[in-house]
Amino acid sequence: MKVFVLICAFISWCDGARILGIIPMPSFSHQIPFRPIWRELSLRGHQVTVLTTDPMRDPQLTNLTEIDLGFSYEVLKKHGFPDFAADDSLSFRQIGKKFALMINELSAGQLSSPQVKQLIGDESIEFDLLVVEAQIPIYMGFAWRFNCPSVGIASLDANLNFHDSIGNPTHPVLNPDPNLPIVDPDNMTFKERLASFLYIYIYKYLTYNKYYPLEDGRFKKFFGDDAPTLLEVQNNISFVMVSTNPIFHSTRAANPNTIFIGNGLHIGPPKPLPTDLQEYLDSSKNGVIYFSLGSNVKGHLLNDTIKRNILQAFSELPYNVLMKMDTDLKDVPKNVKIQKWLPQQDVLRHPNIKLFISQGGLQSLQESITNGIPLVGIPFFGDQISNVYRMVKKGYGVRVDKNEITKENFKQAILEVLNNPRYREKAKEMGELLHDEPMTSLEKAVWWIEYVIRHKGAKHLRSPAVDMPAWKYYMLDVIGSVLGALFIVLFLSYKILKCVISKLLFGKPKAKKD
Ligand SMILES: *[C@@H]1O[C@H](CO)[C@@H](O)[C@H](O)[C@H]1NC(C)=O
Ligand SMILES: *[C@@H]1O[C@H](CO)[C@@H](O)[C@H](O)[C@H]1NC(C)=O
Ligand SMILES: *[C@@H]1O[C@H](CO)[C@@H](O)[C@H](O)[C@H]1NC(C)=O
Ligand SMILES: *[C@@H]1O[C@H](CO)[C@@H](O)[C@H](O)[C@H]1NC(C)=O
Repeated sequence: MKVFVLICAFISWCDGARILGIIPMPSFSHQIPFRPIWRELSLRGHQVTVLTTDPMRDPQLTNLTEIDLGFSYEVLKKHGFPDFAADDSLSFRQIGKKFALMINELSAGQLSSPQVKQLIGDESIEFDLLVVEAQIPIYMGFAWRFNCPSVGIASLDANLNFHDSIGNPTHPVLNPDPNLPIVDPDNMTFKERLASFLYIYIYKYLTYNKYYPLEDGRFKKFFGDDAPTLLEVQNNISFVMVSTNPIFHSTRAANPNTIFIGNGLHIGPPKPLPTDLQEYLDSSKNGVIYFSLGSNVKGHLLNDTIKRNILQAFSELPYNVLMKMDTDLKDVPKNVKIQKWLPQQDVLRHPNIKLFISQGGLQSLQESITNGIPLVGIPFFGDQISNVYRMVKKGYGVRVDKNEITKENFKQAILEVLNNPRYREKAKEMGELLHDEPMTSLEKAVWWIEYVIRHKGAKHLRSPAVDMPAWKYYMLDVIGSVLGALFIVLFLSYKILKCVISKLLFGKPKAKKD
């Protein structure tokens, strides 16, 4: 009996935790950064269930269960994403509205899918921790459903409201929203600071007074009528992990329950290239330019004129060009090799790659500087614009406007980066900075996730700011009383002075008159 009890105790001790991971966004660049985390947690003996739009389907990961939400890609297609986000004729507000509508339909589709419904409804299912993408608040509902602590995780920066839930300052001048079209976030003009101030406070007002109350209705609909408010659940969050890094973003003041995992979490160990590609790269003695606009920017976002200009510029260069392009191109020059998909990380590791022409997605930039490769950036939407701006400022690449690509200026940009060694040196220097850390982002993320499991949350790290009303946080009462006191002192001084002066100046004549 004793032995049996001991064995039971041992089994439950080394069993690991039951972890639910949820990354709802149907986008490869939102999904792949977290794959190493799911893999590592499952290898360490935790039972991991992940809701994802891009399952790994690795049969060796026996402790990992993936629920495929791949059908959600259809919602993006239906709403025309990311084309509308890259459409210059739409205003910032119109894009935001379209995005919100799309996200609503996306979450409704996922939460009412049979597998997810079963997960919510089956009383016998339990989890010890929720790890959820810190973007769409309604998924926080799973923390309430399973009555477990939660960790928010982001492939970019977390949404403003998640920083609020941790009590991190959201200062409009130090940390403007990455989607705002701000030229230099480190040195904003008055107009930009005003715009950022208005944006953050109008966003907060609308989010907390309009959006969350609406979402509460949907929270009850999908999770049950006894659900509390979504904001209460979200403010219970234990930890936030964001993929920012001072090389690509402004630094941010943050509480100890925030960690920064932005040094290329998704970069895996080297894998051999397909034979034909290896031969092609090996035999390109003059060097190779690698062109890819990532997984979201499709070829049709560049019109035929621009595509022709790009190919003509390539044809006049003494280099080979390896191009990832999903659409068919006409009149492809001899030195250009086009493929629909390429193993980007391993292509960039090849010593003959001289230059990366990219849309400026965060992960592409991370991979590029990890291999010391300078870039030409053609940003399309979202954070790509500020990423490329910062890249130019740091000096490891140049920018080309997607609407103004001519054969001449495109060729000139490429030659500038290739012929001036300072771009390559800077890229190398940035890569070394990026990876000089006491532990990798993966180790950091896994360590803190297990910390939250061990302590059943991280209550002791919670900032008092989360429970503070705005008037206390912004010290309105304190500033009000100091100003009030100052006013009283000034007012009394004025009155006394006036009295004294009139006595001194007019006292005697007045007395004479009397
Ligand atoms: C699965 O988890 C168990 C412990 O629960 C662990 O011993 C085993 O190594 C894990 N297997 C894999 C393939 O991750
Ligand atoms: C900020 O920008 C202004 C003009 O736009 C410039 O004069 C100034 O040197 C910049 N400051 C820094 C710290 O970059
Ligand atoms: C907040 O977390 C605590 C402890 O994990 C839990 O007891 C409580 O019910 C949670 N509150 C909400 C609103 O989820
Ligand atoms: C292609 O796009 C550019 C920039 O957006 C525009 O100036 C040009 O007129 C377009 N050409 C055609 C043929 O649509």
